[in-house]
Amino acid sequence: MTALTTSPAWQQLSELAQQVKTQHMRDWFAGDPKRAEKYTTAVCGIELDYSKNLINTEVLAALQQLAKDCQVEQKRHAMFAGEIINHTEKRAVLHTALRNYSGKAVLVDGQDVMPEVQACQQKIKSFVASVHSGERKGYTGKALTQIVAIGIGGSFLGPKIMSETLKPYWFAGVKVHYVANVDGCHIHDVLSGLDHEETLVVMSSKSFTTQETLQNTLSAKAWFLKAGGSQADIAKHFIAVSSNIKAATEFGMAEDNIFPLWDWVGGRYSLWSAIGLPIALTIGYANYEALLQGAYSMDEHFQTAPVEHNLPMILALLGVWYTNFFDAQSHVLLPYYHYMRGFPAYVQQLDMESNGKRIAGSHTVVDYATGPIIWGSEGTNGQHSFHQLIHQGTVLVPADFMLPLSVENQDNTHHAMLASNCFGQTQALMQGKTFEECKADLAGKGLDEAALNSLATHKTMPGNKPSNTLLFDKMDPHTLGALVALYEHKVFVQGAIWGVNSFDQWGVELGKELGNQVLDKLVNSDAALNFDASTNQLISKFRKANP
Ligand code: F6P
Repeated sequence: MTALTTSPAWQQLSELAQQVKTQHMRDWFAGDPKRAEKYTTAVCGIELDYSKNLINTEVLAALQQLAKDCQVEQKRHAMFAGEIINHTEKRAVLHTALRNYSGKAVLVDGQDVMPEVQACQQKIKSFVASVHSGERKGYTGKALTQIVAIGIGGSFLGPKIMSETLKPYWFAGVKVHYVANVDGCHIHDVLSGLDHEETLVVMSSKSFTTQETLQNTLSAKAWFLKAGGSQADIAKHFIAVSSNIKAATEFGMAEDNIFPLWDWVGGRYSLWSAIGLPIALTIGYANYEALLQGAYSMDEHFQTAPVEHNLPMILALLGVWYTNFFDAQSHVLLPYYHYMRGFPAYVQQLDMESNGKRIAGSHTVVDYATGPIIWGSEGTNGQHSFHQLIHQGTVLVPADFMLPLSVENQDNTHHAMLASNCFGQTQALMQGKTFEECKADLAGKGLDEAALNSLATHKTMPGNKPSNTLLFDKMDPHTLGALVALYEHKVFVQGAIWGVNSFDQWGVELGKELGNQVLDKLVNSDAALNFDASTNQLISKFRKANP
């Protein structure tokens, strides 16, 4: 047994979970008219109502004690102070420096990183202004109106999903297209509709070694040259964002066209760096800065608010409660806002790549569950598909519902319907519908007793299903920045409790390595096959289909 599972707070939580499992939230609401008020906290334009959770004062106190015992506050301080907390990669974790508006220095190896960060932000600002004003032109003198942003993982999801969410803030003069998949259909479909003279390619790869991104950029380059551009014109149409300046230069990127980032920025935390350049091109620099400022305000809140009012702490502790004491294996995100439809996929990488780990500390294999499966999609669509399982299935799926209270340019009828569905779902999950209530509904419908009992059994909704509701005054850049930082810090707190390194990602490496070995056998069709029988068979079939 690990120290975590034998700790007094953990033991107390196990006991409390047994007690709570015999109770129903419906009764708690009936018995305490102030429950919603008691369990609602608002900050940075985000109001969190967590009253529809399987918690009471005792549970919260025990969870807070667990956080204390796991030294979450000390670990938080170490992260913000630039200590080498990513110990397997020997790196500091300082995405927070990229949105540091405190005016204070942030030291890495005794060196203040803020001047470099600010210089890069200035470079982004003037670059965006020059594209938007039409001052920066393509090789034939046309304005650059089509941006093709190539990247994958954190070099894609952050920029794409933040841009999508902020559609009401788009700058009218440019259109940004995102490409991630190495499946040639993706880049082909994007480029085939574009005029190369008006196209700017932004290639984003922190490592500058990612196969998908390199190949898509090569294909874009070939397309540009075939369409009439020359090698000398490339500098006007291709720029790169990378921490590997040497590789970017060797690839042929003009040095002035490279936007830097640093090894202390993790891939899935990189949208705040120059990786966010496509966002700034989409919404303009002022809006992009508001996004950074929103994240900064959440950083301040996370560092200073007491644990009981601290939004990232609350979300994280609730997650630990369900993951470790209710065996919940997944967590669903349900944004009720069409433009936030990609948000679950963003948090999916953030959370699963960070806390999908099995080693705590330096080498202990954990004996408790760590990061859950994160999934979800936009409301109301899910209500007509997978919500069935959340309501009546046999697994517990804690949910985060999200809704902007007001939206730009929208018909009020639609918005009221959207909101009613969001609120109605959280209510249904919490209260459920008893067998007796179902039976009463069916009375007088001409069913005999056996049929009535049977149908009422099928219709019974157990309820007692936990959910958080996050309301936004409006989904503007500042609020979105705060929201993303909220989830980043939630993930941090959970990683700190579970003792895992939330900032490496060794699990993705083996697949990349084997993929490269297989590619070698696919392109060299005479090469002997020396893998397992299944893989050999798959390769043979591919070779036959592609002689
Ligand atoms: O394969 C995983 C990963 O390393 C992510 O962590 C990262 O966001 C993505 O690949 C892209 O990496 P890069 O920006 O170096 O191309």
